Amino acid sequence: MRHVGIIGVGRLGGALLKSLSDGSENRVCFIDRDIGLARQRSNEIKFASFESNLEDLAKKSCIIFLAVKPKDVQSTLEELGIYLRSEHLLISVCAGISSKQLREWSGNRCEVLRVMPNIACLVQRGILAVANDSNLSGERLKEVLEILSVMGNCYEIPEKLFDSFTALCASGPAFVFKFFESVEWAAEKIGFDARLSKQLSRSLLDSSSALSSNEWGTWKALIDQIATKGGCTEAGLHSLEADALSTIVERCFILTRDKSVDLGRVDKQS
Ligand SMILES: NC(=O)c1ccc[n+]([C@@H]2O[C@H](COP(=O)([O-])OP(=O)(O)OC[C@H]3O[C@@H](n4cnc5c(N)ncnc54)[C@H](OP(=O)(O)O)[C@@H]3O)[C@@H](O)[C@H]2O)c1
Repeated sequence: MRHVGIIGVGRLGGALLKSLSDGSENRVCFIDRDIGLARQRSNEIKFASFESNLEDLAKKSCIIFLAVKPKDVQSTLEELGIYLRSEHLLISVCAGISSKQLREWSGNRCEVLRVMPNIACLVQRGILAVANDSNLSGERLKEVLEILSVMGNCYEIPEKLFDSFTALCASGPAFVFKFFESVEWAAEKIGFDARLSKQLSRSLLDSSSALSSNEWGTWKALIDQIATKGGCTEAGLHSLEADALSTIVERCFILTRDKSVDLGRVDKQS
């Protein structure tokens, strides 16, 4: 039985709480300064205990997940630091904040690891990055990967790629949903009513996703199964290329990555 604590059970911390509390391997406790939200989580997740202060959470956990907004990380760690012991492992899922900053703010009292999940860990289909250049012992890293594996696929990547991973995979689902929001909107423009536009846009995402996981070829090979030369799909693809879809996506990722870098800047923390 592992003793796991979660600080902050908002959107992402709530997803971690749910997936870590499923099954019997972990005993999970959590804390959130939004008492209404903490009560709601207590009602939703029967087998996790709500703690009222960081001292009790630290006493009851060996592995502590930090899931507060980047602006709250420093103050939270400065408060938590005095309760940390060398046996603890602190895992931060916070965008932009480096392991160096995490170690400094928590008083260098325990091992620290950066993990970047996406919110699909709520449905065990997450994509998670683990910093493979941390100094964690092989045994501890193995334990962490085992814990995270219930949430989805884990990729070990260098920490210097975390801001790019945040843009691509942590923010990524929001961009995919934004695209399909446009699909729903455009469906209405070409004649479908609102209800059918909503249904068809969802079905389009489902069927395309199922097809892509069935056929593990390149994206081009998948496109070529649908677009025939001189046909109607090709006309639509030309329109997307003329509007420079790839450049739009690239710019979106660069801005998101740079914002993640910016969130981690110490001079922006106050
Ligand atoms: N959302 C995502 O999909 C996603 C994906 C990857 C990574 N992340 C990272 O995950 C972190 C959390 O994001 P989120 O979207 O889940 O934020 P969120 O919904 O705002 O949740 C954060 C929660 O932590 C609480 N909190 C703040 N300081 C606290 C403290 N010292 N002790 C106890 N609770 C505290 C907040 O309370 P108040 O509301 O009262 O401040 C809030 O309820 C961020 O650093 C973000 O970069 C998020």
